[in-house]
Amino acid sequence: MIVALAVACFTLGFGAAVLAATDDGKYNKDIAKLLSAIGLPSNISRSFTKRNATPEPSSRQVGVDNLLTKEQVENGFEKSSWQALAYQDFKDVIVAKSNGMKTFPCIYATMGYRADEHRYIFLNSDDPSEPQNVRLIAPALKEYLAISPSLGPNTSLVIVCAPSEKEKSVEDYNNTFWGMLRGLRIIDSKSWPRDVPESVESEKWTFCFGGEPVFPVMLTPAHMQRWSRHMSVPIIALQPKWVLDKLLATDQKREAATGKVRKLLKEYDQIEISPDLTSYGQPGTSEARQLCLLDKNETAGCPFDNLDR
Ligand SMILES: *[C@@H]1O[C@H](CO)[C@@H](O)[C@H](O)[C@H]1NC(C)=O
Ligand SMILES: *[C@@H]1O[C@H](CO)[C@@H](O)[C@H](O)[C@H]1NC(C)=O
Ligand SMILES: *[C@@H]1O[C@H](CO)[C@@H](O)[C@H](O)[C@H]1NC(C)=O
Ligand SMILES: *[C@@H]1O[C@H](CO)[C@@H](O)[C@H](O)[C@H]1NC(C)=O
Repeated sequence: MIVALAVACFTLGFGAAVLAATDDGKYNKDIAKLLSAIGLPSNISRSFTKRNATPEPSSRQVGVDNLLTKEQVENGFEKSSWQALAYQDFKDVIVAKSNGMKTFPCIYATMGYRADEHRYIFLNSDDPSEPQNVRLIAPALKEYLAISPSLGPNTSLVIVCAPSEKEKSVEDYNNTFWGMLRGLRIIDSKSWPRDVPESVESEKWTFCFGGEPVFPVMLTPAHMQRWSRHMSVPIIALQPKWVLDKLLATDQKREAATGKVRKLLKEYDQIEISPDLTSYGQPGTSEARQLCLLDKNETAGCPFDNLDR
């Protein structure tokens, strides 16, 4: 049986350092602390609080100053800023170092993090579909896709949203996520690639930007059972599809990778593996359903039939 790793890989996770503690009481306390720490607009600047107004450009990164390396994130924000706290939480989850934390299911994301193959963008609000955010993401994504082959085999782009000021549902986040994809399509200067179907219901559909297939996944504070899709702030983790193609290049590789990840996923999540985590191209499935999973044992739909219409 072949299953999707896509999901799993990278996406798994940025979930919850705090969440992954086995005891629920502790989890609730920790998450409350974190949320209150990052959710206080009066104490926390909600806009960019970079220490250096312009980060040092690295050789790999020219032109787009909001596409940040790990080092720039670690040195560029005040310790008490929401950006620093959200990043710290993300990191804790990925490396799963604290006591009592379960192994982060996507070992490839951990590898990508450790090898400094990730790049980061921080948004100005919790809604990635806002025009100002789409305008921030589009050039950074374009730049990221251009340099991604040089970043390594487990690279990802991590789009970090500002904390939500009030509680939102998975459905709310689902709408902002799809609104962002739609917005990116609208300002994408490249047309949809001919060899990728436009209908999101097609088993061969995949999101494309700049003519390139990519795999974006939504993690939200509202996912309470599917820990692998939980994060203290909304996060979109995106990989160029070639990352997954490499990982799943042969049947043998595919089975090894998906087997490992699904095993860890079962142990990590407090709910069954989603029925939407199927392998790309399998008749009757669609990758569109994998991007923002429900926090239930049910299959998710998609608000658009076609992102171009
Ligand atoms: C906000 O900051 C002020 C001063 O820096 C501090 O006294 C106050 O306790 C902080 N509020 C919260 C809720 O952390
Ligand atoms: C990254 O991904 C590949 C599979 O695409 C894997 O074989 C490799 O071991 C990973 N880790 C590192 C550190 O490159
Ligand atoms: C999850 O859904 C599947 C398919 O509908 C069903 O077979 C399975 O029993 C469900 N699991 C639980 C724990 O409800
Ligand atoms: C996202 O929205 C679509 C359309 O309303 C819906 O079918 C789908 O189940 C939603 N997904 C989630 C995760 O809420």
